[in-house]
Amino acid sequence: MEKVGILVVSYGARAVAMVDAFTRSLNYDVEIYVADKQRNPFNVKKAVKHVVIPDLNVDAICQFAETNKDKIDFGIVGPEKPIINGVRDLVEKRTGISLICPKKEYAIEASKVQQRLLFQKIVPEVNPRFKIFNPKEYKTLDYAKKAVYSWLDELDNKAVVKPDKPAAGKGVGVWGDHFTTREQLFEHFTANFQYGPVIIEEKIEGEESSFQTFCDGKHLVPLPETRDYKRAFDNDKGPNTGGMGSYKDVGDVLPFMANVDRAKEIEIVNKVFEKWKAADNEGLRGIPFYVAFIHTDKGPKILENNSRPGDPEIQNIVPILKEDFVDVCFKILEGNLTHIELEKAATVVTYKVPPNYGGYANTFPNLVKKYEIGKPVDLTKAYELTKKHGERIRVYPASMEVRNSETYALKSRAVCVVGIGEDIETARQVSLEGIKAIKGGALWHRTDIASKQHIEKSIRHMEELRRRKQ
Ligand code: GLY
Repeated sequence: MEKVGILVVSYGARAVAMVDAFTRSLNYDVEIYVADKQRNPFNVKKAVKHVVIPDLNVDAICQFAETNKDKIDFGIVGPEKPIINGVRDLVEKRTGISLICPKKEYAIEASKVQQRLLFQKIVPEVNPRFKIFNPKEYKTLDYAKKAVYSWLDELDNKAVVKPDKPAAGKGVGVWGDHFTTREQLFEHFTANFQYGPVIIEEKIEGEESSFQTFCDGKHLVPLPETRDYKRAFDNDKGPNTGGMGSYKDVGDVLPFMANVDRAKEIEIVNKVFEKWKAADNEGLRGIPFYVAFIHTDKGPKILENNSRPGDPEIQNIVPILKEDFVDVCFKILEGNLTHIELEKAATVVTYKVPPNYGGYANTFPNLVKKYEIGKPVDLTKAYELTKKHGERIRVYPASMEVRNSETYALKSRAVCVVGIGEDIETARQVSLEGIKAIKGGALWHRTDIASKQHIEKSIRHMEELRRRKQ
């Protein structure tokens, strides 16, 4: 069997899902080289070489690639930070190893302002009403305040405040969630404004879907729709998180979507792609479009675009690829990925997270198993469920670390379980069974990911929005 060396830049379960897919290859003898944020228990076990780079800085990643360059055929990158910081440009230039992720120039996840302006040029209908406030254009904060308040008059206060750069200042703030007065909104705004431009856009109502697509530079291969659960607690309460779970239906669309909604999304993303492709194509390799769409009474709008796979959304897809993932990657690198085959299955991902994640411990102090805090997490029983479910269950550690042969949860989303089934409810039960089998560390999870009630609520909401549209 042909030997293939693959570099995986990893943070979180999305890269673990890729490592899993690579190491299940039936066509190749795969050797995995992982540049990881921490000693992820899954990656440590599967890799022939594993290095920890806590800040995932591109120089250290490049050095790891260079040291092993004779053994590595190509690489793939999961997390956004190294992509935004130009890991592909650097590694390809210094080592000649091709990476699957966009080049720095095409990583528009880096700037919310650039995203809005790009869409404005090509598909203006997907933008909500927005205004960019650039600190360079305002002599004093008072001038900025005047301009912000006058824009809030136009939006009737229902606004979302977004910093240009991810994770600058206080991050994204939403009217009704993070602030309920103009003063509070302006406080949120100034916390971001000190670092650079801030967008204030209208808050839009609708149902969200995540649209991801593989890209070989020449073709877009859209992946089925998934629904992410951003809020920390059941019934979509609590603060936004990285995503507490997600689901995918048997086909390409979600239960609350119509085929025309999907067709519209593909049309929108294709328009942007065609424009970019004309300038350069290889730079777009990877998943340059992971678009958070929101379906409104005025059609689909874009909340944001990311230049990498979604987490947990890519875990809904990779485990049900019918083709060998190594072959899929070779096609991406060769520019001949024109379609992709997936099993006809529903998938549900549920995350288990540490006690302080999403402010859970403060909100529900009585529900936290205090005696378990800081103790190891035992994944054995969850893995043993493969005896019952075979390949229909996947347990992917994320923000976890091996120390002296014990596994500990760190600060972020700790471990997810993917359930695969002939319908959403079957997949959900498998995912929940796995989640419940994970013991220790005072971890907790949302109980309503992909629940019938939640999905029916989305369907009713979408029906109401369609009625308003008529
Ligand atoms: N699920 C949200 C994200 O990957 O950004």
